[in-house]
Amino acid sequence: MKIIYYHFDTIDSTNNFAKKKCHQFDEQALTVITASEQTAGRGRRARSWSSLKGKSLCLSFVIQTALNPFFMTQLAALALGDVLHSYSIPSCIKWPNDLLVNGKKIGGILTERQDSSLIIGIGLNVNMTKEDLQSIPQKTTSLYLETEQLFSIDDAVHELVRRFADLILLQDPTCEAKWLERASWIVGQEVIINKDTRPTAVVIASLTSDGTLLCRHADDRYEKLITADIIL
Ligand code: BTN
Repeated sequence: MKIIYYHFDTIDSTNNFAKKKCHQFDEQALTVITASEQTAGRGRRARSWSSLKGKSLCLSFVIQTALNPFFMTQLAALALGDVLHSYSIPSCIKWPNDLLVNGKKIGGILTERQDSSLIIGIGLNVNMTKEDLQSIPQKTTSLYLETEQLFSIDDAVHELVRRFADLILLQDPTCEAKWLERASWIVGQEVIINKDTRPTAVVIASLTSDGTLLCRHADDRYEKLITADIIL
C-alpha cells in the first residue's frame, strides 16, 4: 500500500488539515498527517484535545474508501491497542472507541468524513506526566505514567501506521469480533450515558460487533445507541 506522510511541527489540528486538503491527496494512497503539537486539537463531541510537543502522538489517516467509517475506526482502535501491546501495555476499548489502560484513557479517535475521504484522527498520550494531564477532567494516563519509561513518538507513529495499513490490506472479517472482545467488558456495567444534554444512569445490556450498544434504563426501557459518551 502506498503511504504518503506529511509532518508539521505545529498545526491547529491534523484533522483540520486533512479536511481542507484531502481533495489534493493521492486517491490510491493512505495519507498520514502527523504533528509534534496541535494548537486546536479536537476530540469527539466538539471537545478539545490537548497535546504537548514531544509528549503526544497526533496523527490523522486519510483514505478514500467505501468501507463503513465505524469499521475503519474499529481497525484504528485495534491497531492502537496492538501498538500498546507491543510495549507490553495491556489495554481495552471503551465504547465507542477510546483506548483505556488500567481504567484510564490513554488515547482517542475522531473519525470524520469529508466528501469521499475518511479522516481518522488518533491522539495518544505518550510522554505526558501527571502534571501535564491534571487539567483534563477525565481519568487519563500516558505510556510514560504506565511504565515510567519515555517513548519515541516516531517509533509509535511507524508502528501504528504499519499495523493500520496491514489491517486495511487484510480486510480480515474477524476484526469486528476482535474489537468486540476488547470492548465487551462494558456489558453488565452500571454507567452514566451522556447522549444529549441530560446524563442518565443505565445498565449496559449488550454490545454487538457493529458497535451498537443496548442499554437498560431504570424504568426497564431498552435503548439502542450508536454513539454517546459513557461515564464509568
Ligand atoms: C477523542 O477521544 O475525543 C478523540 C481524540 C482525537 C484526537 C486526535 S489528535 C489527531 C487528530 N487531530 C485532531 O484535532 N484530533 C485528532
